[in-house]
Amino acid sequence: MAEKFFVTTALPYANGPFHIGHIMEYIQADIWVRFQRMQGNEVHFVGADDAHGAPIMLKAEAEGITPQELVARIAAGRPRYLQGFHISFDHWHSTDSPENVALSQDIYRRLKEHGFVYSKPVEQFYDPVKGMFLADRYIKGECPNCHARDQYGDACEVCSTVYAPTELIEPYSALTGAKPILKTSDHLFFRLSDPRCVDFLNGWTTTPNRLQPQVLNKAREWLSGTGEQALGDWDISRDAPYFGIPIPDAPGKYFYVWLDAPIGYLASLQSYFESGKARANGEPRSFEEFLTAPDTRQVHFIGKDIIYFHTLFWPAMLRFAGPPYKVPDNVYVHGFITVSGEKMSKSRGTGISPLRYLDIGMNPEWLRYYIAAKLNANVEDLDFNPEDFLARVNSDLIGKYVNIASRAANFITRHFGGALAYAGGAQALRQHAAEAADQVRESYAAREFGRAMREIMAHADRINQEFDARQPWVLAKDPARHAELQDICSRTLYGFKLLSVLLAPVLPEVGARVARELFGLDRALRWSDALEPPQRVKPYQHLMTRVDPKQLDALFEPDSPAAAVTAAPPRAASNASAAAKPAAAKSGAASAAPVATGEAASSVPTISIEEFKRLDLRVARIVAAEHVTGADKLLKLTLDLGTETRTVFAGIKSAYDPATLAGRLTLMVANLAPRKMKFGISEGMVLAASNESGGPYLLSPDSGAVPGMRVS
Ligand code: 2FM
Ligand code: ZN
Repeated sequence: MAEKFFVTTALPYANGPFHIGHIMEYIQADIWVRFQRMQGNEVHFVGADDAHGAPIMLKAEAEGITPQELVARIAAGRPRYLQGFHISFDHWHSTDSPENVALSQDIYRRLKEHGFVYSKPVEQFYDPVKGMFLADRYIKGECPNCHARDQYGDACEVCSTVYAPTELIEPYSALTGAKPILKTSDHLFFRLSDPRCVDFLNGWTTTPNRLQPQVLNKAREWLSGTGEQALGDWDISRDAPYFGIPIPDAPGKYFYVWLDAPIGYLASLQSYFESGKARANGEPRSFEEFLTAPDTRQVHFIGKDIIYFHTLFWPAMLRFAGPPYKVPDNVYVHGFITVSGEKMSKSRGTGISPLRYLDIGMNPEWLRYYIAAKLNANVEDLDFNPEDFLARVNSDLIGKYVNIASRAANFITRHFGGALAYAGGAQALRQHAAEAADQVRESYAAREFGRAMREIMAHADRINQEFDARQPWVLAKDPARHAELQDICSRTLYGFKLLSVLLAPVLPEVGARVARELFGLDRALRWSDALEPPQRVKPYQHLMTRVDPKQLDALFEPDSPAAAVTAAPPRAASNASAAAKPAAAKSGAASAAPVATGEAASSVPTISIEEFKRLDLRVARIVAAEHVTGADKLLKLTLDLGTETRTVFAGIKSAYDPATLAGRLTLMVANLAPRKMKFGISEGMVLAASNESGGPYLLSPDSGAVPGMRVS
């Protein structure tokens, strides 16, 4: 019996393009979804933009556009990434949609009717200049513990003390610099502490096979907290101005973005069903019929930073709103992606740009395979290591998988006109393939993708060994042994077909090409194809190239200096560590802000003068400029700062002949942390201007300036 799945990935904030962390999550979910589809299961895989909230509102305002325009612009960029990495969402929607308004208001009304919503005054910092209440991230001041200046309103980045924004010394609004005032307003709360909720969550979280053990432990910790740590109620309203969904019976108040965000999963599913597209992917039925079918499984893939929302609020909201809403069956949590062991940080230049990956012609299936090979079902971080990436892809995909097809198919084409023949029949091979497919099926189903890849490569090793042991190149020279040649090549090509089926969830494009070009199938591979020994092959066509180390160099070359300077505010660097923060369990419900992500932080529209002053901008003289062997974009600059000399690698090679640079004055960021690069240590950054149509153009001071002068 086919199973029915409703699968989602976390909805990305609609204020910036996807980063590699999003792509990793989508690849993980997509592999699982494709695997389920190959089993013949009915899967509806949907995503949407998480459009609401203050950061998006403020970013749009800073750009002089409406939030809707900003969201539409970001949404327009999504398909490039999704198609580029072969992510097979059935539908992509937005939380700023009529479906989401109706669903959110409906769920709220039901929760209220059942006694789960109440109102209570909340005292909070308010920016009198901006005329709005300030979430913790928009308040800064001096740490009450270590007295570090310019710390955010929730925790000190220097000494890690967690505090309420009201404890900051000399707090100021990060939006306007104004001194915030304390103001009271009524907020609506979801009664998470209600014994009905706690009972339900105790049962839901401990249902066998629902949550990974690490996630269950986390949830148990939150659910069993007492006193200060007891489960707090959840502040679900925000006062105008706010970009969100109006609360039906509370004029001027909006749902907090984290209330309507997960409901966006349902809004996307509903819009998908109503679009009629769902019919092509399963039996025709309505959104409600699908959701209420007893065998529909609702599965959410998320990152470890948003466990709290998905294992407490979300199931409780759904449970107490009642049918047709159903509680999630599984929440599958993954860790973060690190690059060469470092947390991603755009400001430090680490991280991988997904678009650059595609733009420089790297094969998306390499990344899909690499991620699959490193994923397991635990909540562990995944490290992208360039050397390891190159070695694994080249050795496994090219060395073990693709090569075997070309070697065997060429003999079959040349000597047997494409016909395969198995000496003594293919029954034993078929049996062997069935066992292999069963083993790998279990690994995929359990999201043990790394194990699945190891199992598949072990089969590839055996196929290669048998092929080599029978020395087909020797057999080919002796016409009397051509039956043997045909047999070993046929066995090998059946093995290749098996490998292609088993790898198809990870390598869908290669799988489709193998099906069509080699085996002449006019449809995508199915899992059951593993049991069908092929009878003919067409001439082999090149399937995949090796990773070239130069591509990895290009992937990691820094952006143009100007882009790098403006890439991310200081907070982005620490966001990845904001894992699993029990927001509402903290002292005040008003602190139940979303765990910030790099995207949210990058929407901060203005910086204060104090923040600007943290930049040490200096006039510098370029003493020497030279090419860097092996770097396509970099020049090595020696800069005189008056009292010292610095080496800086600058991505300006495309625009400048080094011979013309020596002697000229420019501007540099002198207090940028030194950065270890492949070619040496870069001790700062020169400033240059650029946009899509031109640059980089190095900045120069007016005449009279001398090296070392501070720029302010
Ligand atoms: O953390 C985030 O990026 C959120 N936008 C995720 C929302 S997931 C779901 F609830 F919509
Ligand atoms: Zn401190």
